[in-house]
Amino acid sequence: MSLKEQIDVTRLPAHIAIIMDGNGRWARQQGKNRIFGHRSGVQSVRETSEACAELGVKYLTLYAFSTENWSRPHTEVTALMTLLLKTINGELKTLLKNDIRLGAIGDLDTLPKSVAKELRQSIERTAHCQRMQLTLALSYSGKSELLRAVKQIALKFQQGEIGMHELTEQLITDNLYTAGMPDPELLIRTSGEKRISNFLLWQLAYAEFYFTEIFWPEFTKEELYKAILEFQNRERRFGKTSEQLTTK
Ligand code: FPP
Repeated sequence: MSLKEQIDVTRLPAHIAIIMDGNGRWARQQGKNRIFGHRSGVQSVRETSEACAELGVKYLTLYAFSTENWSRPHTEVTALMTLLLKTINGELKTLLKNDIRLGAIGDLDTLPKSVAKELRQSIERTAHCQRMQLTLALSYSGKSELLRAVKQIALKFQQGEIGMHELTEQLITDNLYTAGMPDPELLIRTSGEKRISNFLLWQLAYAEFYFTEIFWPEFTKEELYKAILEFQNRERRFGKTSEQLTTK
C-alpha cells in the first residue's frame, strides 16, 4: 500500500501549519546561493498545497516570512519579496482552478506596497473558494500577534464595550489574525531544527509537532503523507488519561 493509501481520510488534521526551513542550507549543499534555495522552495509550497487539497485538509498555514526575517541581508529580503510577488501573481490561476482560498496573517502594512497589493488582490479574487484555505504568514510573529490582540481588547475594555466577564480565552482567539480558523492540529518543521520560532504561539497549544531532517526544497507530497501518518498514529489526550479516552 502506498503512503497515501495508508492515510485515514476521516481522521485528517483540519489544519496543518508548516515552518518551512532549510532553503539556505539546501542551496549551499548544491553549491548555489541562498536565493536559489528559496526559489526551489516554491515547488515544495505547490506540492504541499496540492497534496493537502487532494486529501481534504481544510486549512494549510505556511510560515513564509517572520518579523525577525527583516533583519536578514538586504539582498535576501529583496529577493524573497520579489519571489513572493512573482509567486502570488503566478499562482492565482492555479488557486482558482483548485478552488483554494488565499489568506494572509501578519503585519501586512510592513510589506512592500507592490507585494501587499498583489496579495490583497489574490485574497479578494479567491475569497469565494471553498476547498481549502492556504494562509501565508508574512511579516508575522506570534508575540506581536498576541500584543496586537491585547491592545484591541484593552481598547474595547477602556471604552466600556466589554467588562471583566467577557475576558475569556475565546475573546483572545477572536482577536488574533487567525480568528475564525480552527487551531492547527499538526505543526511540521523541516531541516532538523526543533523550535517554534515565534509561530502561532497561542494556536499551537494542543498541536502535534512533527520534525523532519529534510530541507524544505526536498519536501514532497510523500514527506507530507509521512507527517500525517505519524499524526494519525499518535494518541491525542488533551490532558486526559489514555483510559479516559478509551472508555469515553
Ligand atoms: C527558511 O529557510 C525559509 C524562508 C525564510 C522563506 C520561505 C520562502 C519560500 C519557501 C519561498 C516563497 C514562499 C511562498 C509561500 C510563495 P532558511 O532561509 O531559513 O534556510 P536556512 O535555515 O537553511 O538558512
